[in-house]
Amino acid sequence: MNTTTQILLSDDEGVRHAASLLRSGELVAIPTETVYGLGANARNDNAVAAIFAAKKRPQFNPLIVHVPDFDTAEQFVIFSEPAKQIAQAFWPGAITLVLPKLNNSGLSDLVSAGLDTVAIRVPAHPVARAILKEFNGPVAAPSANPSGKISPTSAQHVLSGLNGHIAAVVDGGQCDVGLESTIIGFNNDTPVMLRPGGIPQEAIEKLTGHAIDVSTNGKITAPGQIASHYAPNALIRLNAEVPNNDEAWLGFGQSINHPVSLNLSPSGNLVEAATNLFAYLRELDDEASKANLQKIAAAPIPMKGLGNAINDRLRRAAAPR
Ligand code: TXA
Ligand code: MG
Repeated sequence: MNTTTQILLSDDEGVRHAASLLRSGELVAIPTETVYGLGANARNDNAVAAIFAAKKRPQFNPLIVHVPDFDTAEQFVIFSEPAKQIAQAFWPGAITLVLPKLNNSGLSDLVSAGLDTVAIRVPAHPVARAILKEFNGPVAAPSANPSGKISPTSAQHVLSGLNGHIAAVVDGGQCDVGLESTIIGFNNDTPVMLRPGGIPQEAIEKLTGHAIDVSTNGKITAPGQIASHYAPNALIRLNAEVPNNDEAWLGFGQSINHPVSLNLSPSGNLVEAATNLFAYLRELDDEASKANLQKIAAAPIPMKGLGNAINDRLRRAAAPR
C-alpha cells in the first residue's frame, strides 16, 4: 500500500485528528514513553490486519493493547490479585501484563493471535494518554518499525521505516525510556518474565516481595520474541573490551578514542544508556556504513537494572540473521 503519511503535531488538533483516523480504521504511529507504537483500533479486524501488512511481519504475533487507565483495562482482561498489585504500582508506565481475555472483550482475535490471553498496558506518555482518551477505545500497537528492524524512539525513526505505508505519525519528541515495556505473564499467580524492558525486574520483585520466574521453561512464551531482532546493517560484536580498526564502537562508561564511536552513557548510567540505545544504534550504523565499516563492537553492559533489557536487545541485534 502506498499512501501519504501525515506528520501530526502533538497539540489538541493533532490528538483529535489522530483519534479520528483510528476511528476510521487507519494506522497511526503514536509516541509512548518506551518507543513509538503503530496504533490501530483493536476492535477492528481490518485495521489490526493492516498493522501486520505495514510492518511486513512474517507471522501474526500477538500485539499489546493500550488503554488509558486501569478501569478500562478491566473491560478486556481478568486481573488476579498479584496482577492488580503490579498494575496499580507501575501504571501508567513501561510494564505490560499478559492476562486472561474476557469473553465479551470485543477485541479482534488477531490482536492475541488466537491465544486466550491479552497483553495490555497503560502508557505514561501524555500524548499517548490524550489520544487514548480522545479515541475512547483500545489501541493495538506494536513498535512502529518494519519487522526485525530497530524500534523507533522518534517520529523521524518511524518515517524512515514506514513513510508511505501508514496514515500518520504524531510527533511527540524523543521517547524517555527508549526500550520497550517489560512483559510479565503469570503462571498461576507467580509473575513470569516474558521480556525484560523499561521497568527493571528488581523493582517488581521489591514491590511483590517475591522472585520473578525468569526460566519460562516453555510454559508461557511471548511468541514475538524471535532471536534476531533490532537488526542494524552492520554486524555486532558483544562484550568487546576495545574496538578493532574495522569496527565502529558503541561505548558505555569511560570513553575510548576511536574514529567512529558513540557512548551510550559516559558516566555509566543505565537509564541514560537505555534512552540512547536505539537512536545510537541507528546513528552508528549510518556512520559505520559511511566509513565503510561492516561491524560494530559494543562495550559490556552490567547485568543489573535496565542492563538486563539493554543486553537482551543487543543480543538480538547481534543474533545470526
Ligand atoms: O513498549 C512497548 O511494549 C511497545 C509500545 C508501543 O507499547 N510495544 C511493543 O510491542 O513493543 P511489540 O509488538 O513490538 O511487542 C509485543 C510482544 C509480542 O511480540 C509478544 O512477544 C508479546 O508482546 N505478547 C503480546 N501478546 C501476548 C500474549 N497474549 N501472550 C504472550 N506474549 C504476548
Ligand atoms: Mg517490536
